[in-house]
Amino acid sequence: MQLKHFLQFNDFCRDEYEYLFERTRWIKQEFKQYRQYWPLNDRTLAMIFDKNSTRTRLSFEAGMHQLGGAAIYLSTRDTQLGRGEPVEDAARVISRMVDLVMVRTYQHDTIKRFAENSRVPVINGLTDEYHPCQIMSDIFTYIEYRGSIEGKTVAWIGDSNNMCNTWLQAAEIFNFQVHVSTPPGYDIDPERIGLRGATHYKIYANPREAVMSADLVTTDVWTSMGFEEEIEQRKNDFAAFCVNTEMMSLAKSDALFMHCLPAHRDEEVSAEVLDGPQSVVWDEAENRLHTQKALMEYLLLGKINIGI
Ligand code: CP
Ligand code: NVA
Repeated sequence: MQLKHFLQFNDFCRDEYEYLFERTRWIKQEFKQYRQYWPLNDRTLAMIFDKNSTRTRLSFEAGMHQLGGAAIYLSTRDTQLGRGEPVEDAARVISRMVDLVMVRTYQHDTIKRFAENSRVPVINGLTDEYHPCQIMSDIFTYIEYRGSIEGKTVAWIGDSNNMCNTWLQAAEIFNFQVHVSTPPGYDIDPERIGLRGATHYKIYANPREAVMSADLVTTDVWTSMGFEEEIEQRKNDFAAFCVNTEMMSLAKSDALFMHCLPAHRDEEVSAEVLDGPQSVVWDEAENRLHTQKALMEYLLLGKINIGI
């Protein structure tokens, strides 16, 4: 089987996502029925974390276990990576001992270098630039609630961060529009994101205009991991970018609200919206488990038709 990595959203094409979502539906249904499914019996996943995590660690670790395999948690703090071992050397060694690797780190270049030296598939569990596993779960969740996302409008309110960049890549693959509203000085950089063109997004200075007629409104923390020194500055700069009830009321009446979590109530989103009827954040978080199980199955076994 050809070695495949999942480092950014546009590493996969639309057909591959359609396949993954079909597998996800079946894997989720089996899980809900307490039916054992162990296609990755005897396989091992190494998870390397340079940054904190609740959902990503849990969903990969539980997911691998549920598929019959094992997962090993490695943090920079307690491996030789934290003492200066080159990422290339770590990749060569780790990938001789396990079948699959997930990496959460700072610069995307680090995970690229890891993948270039790995014998096994590498999954991006978040970098400063991208969070592809989260967007896979978000789009799956949207489809569960509303059907196809093609032709729909997603309003992104807040920082031009890893989540925003990945939504923009996904828009080109699934053919939807992203209305992006960021404070001055936090603008997107289409070239760095690796976009093919400017056909799938529009920039709005005013977040209220970005949200108008949106099918999905989404935001994220004002300060992502690694940018903690800017917290106070960002609180000032993002003050007008809280997704509250008044802002949500400008979107379509059946618009959904998403947030990758963890959330800061009454900063980027009001408690009323996060805990309100349009919010699907808990399903969005749960679907990390099911979509990533399909992803791991695909990277290790290729396309299969068990259960379908
Ligand atoms: N959404 C997400 O990736 O959460 P964690 O940081 O808890 O993994
Ligand atoms: N943008 C956030 C997402 C956390 C899951 C961060 O990078 O910290």
